[in-house]
Amino acid sequence: MKSNCLNLRTIFMAAFAVTVSFCLTTDATAQAKPKGKPWPAPADAIAKKSPVKGADAIKEGKELYAQHCKSCHGAKGQGDGAKADKLDITPGDFTSAESAKVSEGEMYWKTTQGRKPMPAFKDKLTDNERWSVIMYVKSLK
Ligand code: HEC
Repeated sequence: MKSNCLNLRTIFMAAFAVTVSFCLTTDATAQAKPKGKPWPAPADAIAKKSPVKGADAIKEGKELYAQHCKSCHGAKGQGDGAKADKLDITPGDFTSAESAKVSEGEMYWKTTQGRKPMPAFKDKLTDNERWSVIMYVKSLK
């Protein structure tokens, strides 16, 4: 009798361990998209400052972000938009300490140029619209 109980407990615990590790693994694969290869911006682009600033720019940027960026970058910029799962690489996290080190000029340049799967916004948004979106992105941190 005693050994039967022990056996049941062993089976139960083994099943529990398998369930937990299965859940952890599926979670990890859902989250962990690889980063893109290094994407250096030119020094003069990195140093550029936005000609549009303040609450109005952020407000305009927020609307444009919702239309053009949110599907991949996510509602709060954390890289978890509806399309993000289908991308081969992560869009990154605009609220991270790492992203805070990327200058507004560098973000503007990358938004202008794009790099697959991220589209180029050179012809989709005006210069000031692209700067407004970056002002909004920078406000997310
Ligand atoms: C189709 C999905 C998609 C859309 C839409 C999109 N992005 Fe991206 N974005 C990405 C991906 C993926 C990366 C990572 C690219 C890489 O590393 O090559 C990225 C990278 C970036 C980067 C560089 C991040 C860094 O820290 O250097 C910036 C800035 C950026 N996106 C801004 C925007 C803005 C602003 C918009 C909207 C105007 C936008 N993106 C729309 C997918 C997207």
